[in-house]
Amino acid sequence: VRGTVSCSSCHIKQIAFGDTARCSLGHDGVSRTDRHAMRLVNVRYFPSPRFGWAMATYTLESQVLRPITASVGMGFTAESGGVDSLTRRTRTLPYCPELFRLAFGDESDTLPRMQSALAMFVRSIVSSHSRWDSGYEPNVDLTTYDQGLRRRLLNESEVERVGRLLFFAGRALGATLGCAACHLPPHFASPGTPDGIGLSAGERRAVKAPSLKNVAVAGRYMHDGGFATPEEAIHHYDVGLQDGPALGPLLRDLLTGRPLRMGLDAYGRGASGLPQDTRGFHGADGYPLQQSFSPSGAAPSASSPPTGR
Ligand code: HEC
Ligand code: HEC
Repeated sequence: VRGTVSCSSCHIKQIAFGDTARCSLGHDGVSRTDRHAMRLVNVRYFPSPRFGWAMATYTLESQVLRPITASVGMGFTAESGGVDSLTRRTRTLPYCPELFRLAFGDESDTLPRMQSALAMFVRSIVSSHSRWDSGYEPNVDLTTYDQGLRRRLLNESEVERVGRLLFFAGRALGATLGCAACHLPPHFASPGTPDGIGLSAGERRAVKAPSLKNVAVAGRYMHDGGFATPEEAIHHYDVGLQDGPALGPLLRDLLTGRPLRMGLDAYGRGASGLPQDTRGFHGADGYPLQQSFSPSGAAPSASSPPTGR
């Protein structure tokens, strides 16, 4: 409403459309959002199309309207004239009518058209050339239960391999827990319902498990932006879990050391090549999700077939 804030003030392109601040600055330059602005990558592929940390918005078209009308956000609140004052303003921009005509066939700049255009733009933000993507691509097998996820990746380092095994441990071991239970591949986002991960004691409100795509280039982590690096975020699962009503049942087991750690111990005995110390998640620092913006160069060699485990 003051012309100070755009979507990209809070969703910064260079860091996968996330924010460097724990909570983002609103249009008055003072107030801050109560939650961290998450990355906007591969949103179109989310297994459950529900948006925001609380997963309370059911379409992208309605989600994009929220910051526009939020008092901490762009500030087109009812008192400030609402979205009508926004359209009155865009109408004075010389290029707007032309853009609407190109996109929709005529110059009518209705709110639903703006919402649709913004939502379509967000859907176009896709990351598909990470090391994980090019490593997994030759292994994809939709005819098997695990869709080829247990096969070794041709481009993975040893430490990434350990990370991947830990990440998928639940499935690979037939146990209930693994990071992938909540960060469902290939998007690595919540399979559908909000969850709690014990960030604080007594935590009551569950939130969405965000996609881990581009996690390495982001600014801050978790809904409160409380962690500064992905390592800190992962370390939380090892040492930081606190009990509370929202703590996911899968993670509750971790409080007592079951069943993932038991599973990992069993796995460590059965599989060669795993370092002995696989109990915590320290080994997951090499998790297979490091992303880069540039396509990852050489494609995996097709001549050596994937060695299925
Ligand atoms: C003032 C900062 C701010 C501005 C401006 C802003 N956002 Fe956001 N955005 C956020 C925050 C904070 C969240 C998380 C909201 C929550 O759940 O509490 C969010 C969430 C989202 C989500 C949900 C993503 C997901 O994975 O669920 C989408 C999509 C989105 N914003 C798109 C936009 C678009 C498009 C614009 C411009 C019209 C915009 N945002 C402007 C801060 C902002
Ligand atoms: C019970 C479900 C669940 C499990 C299991 C789980 N996560 Fe999460 N994860 C979440 C939720 C929910 C959040 C967001 C929590 C918040 O912001 O309060 C999250 C957030 C994260 C983040 C921060 C992402 C960001 O962009 O802010 C990382 C990194 C992460 N998880 C990695 C992992 C790893 C690695 C594992 C396995 C050790 C794992 N998660 C297991 C549910 C889960």
